[in-house]
Amino acid sequence: MTSWDLFGDHDPGQRTRLGPQAWVLRGFALPWIDELLPALNRIEAAAPFRHMRTPGGFMMSAALSSCGPLGWTSDRRGYRYSPIDPESGLVWPAMPASFLRLALEAAAAAGFEDFIPDACLINRYLPGARMSLHQDKNERDFHAPIVSVSLGMSATFLFGGHARSDKAARVPLHHGDIAVWGGVDRLRYHGVLPLGETPHPRLGRRRINLTFRKAG
Ligand code: SIN
Ligand code: FE2
Repeated sequence: MTSWDLFGDHDPGQRTRLGPQAWVLRGFALPWIDELLPALNRIEAAAPFRHMRTPGGFMMSAALSSCGPLGWTSDRRGYRYSPIDPESGLVWPAMPASFLRLALEAAAAAGFEDFIPDACLINRYLPGARMSLHQDKNERDFHAPIVSVSLGMSATFLFGGHARSDKAARVPLHHGDIAVWGGVDRLRYHGVLPLGETPHPRLGRRRINLTFRKAG
């Protein structure tokens, strides 16, 4: 990444290139916010955010929910996708039409046509919550991209290489930004630095991240 790529990091319509097939689409979700937020509230009511435990026994600091045919769960037995929310014993809430349309448009804008996600993970970060460097590799299909929508408080996204020890770029992600990575960049390590304290005017003291995947 060259230094000019980071200019305009808060400019709707700008694109930041993170790799040959990895982009941040600045403000791409802003026209969708009024549809996304009520849908998000309905999902939260049906499948409340919960802190999951990693197989190693640690409690994750970001709280998680899901919508769509498959949701992501973690416990002492491992990480996996499941059609059933283990908290309720019911299927996950349906993926709202607005979520799906936004994910398809963002994927296409980043060069990934024909993306049909079957899972949307919803992470909620409160001040101090973080996500350590990891690869998204519980999905069956590594050709499909990951489409990641940021809402609420700004965060610093870490986008590394194919080895955990590779130096990671620090990429600010603001309300409405969408990161998309796939193809040769699909398995790059990524994470989120601890969330700060500055509340967002509309969402308050939280950051919500939607990640769309083709999991099954
Ligand atoms: C994730 O890697 O699943 C979440 C990334 C983010 O919160 O931006
Ligand atoms: Fe991830």
